[in-house]
Amino acid sequence: MKRKSEKYEKKISKLRKEYEKKREFYRLLREHAGDIIKSDNFQSTRNYIQHGSIPVHRHCIDVARQSIAISQLLGIPCSERELIRGALLHDYFLYDWHDRSRENYQMLHGFYHPGIALKNASREYKLTLREKDIIKKHMWPLTVVPPRCREAWIVTTADKYCSLLETLKLRRGVGKARLRISG
Ligand SMILES: [Fe+2]
Ligand SMILES: [Fe+2]
Repeated sequence: MKRKSEKYEKKISKLRKEYEKKREFYRLLREHAGDIIKSDNFQSTRNYIQHGSIPVHRHCIDVARQSIAISQLLGIPCSERELIRGALLHDYFLYDWHDRSRENYQMLHGFYHPGIALKNASREYKLTLREKDIIKKHMWPLTVVPPRCREAWIVTTADKYCSLLETLKLRRGVGKARLRISG
């Protein structure tokens, strides 16, 4: 009986820690990127699928959270603000990259979208050099030139990790693809 309650307590404490971590992340998000998350264009990324059933919106928030987790886990000193803003805007291409009927459809989306995201983000926000580097290099090694700052290395790693989970369907969302399956 005692062992069962100990197990229960452990589970509760783990859940509490996860909840606190999430709460702290959303506090950082509001503090450093409230303007981005509230903007219409960023909100519109809920309508585009990234991988599997995960919308671009959720993907970018997951990449930002994973980036913060990596920097804390490895004790890498970096600018939290630039890390979060760069991660949120790294896939700011603002279209459905799966839609073949789209004007300017690119077979090589993987190569071109960092440049498009950078152009879109620069139009709306005053980006720092680190934020530009994060967006431009997040597809490295596809984009040949390697990242030049710690923040960009962290985001490119977090992006690959999140993309893998999404592609293997280990992370599920409620985007168009899933609705289509269930509908
Ligand atoms: Fe990307
Ligand atoms: Fe991404």
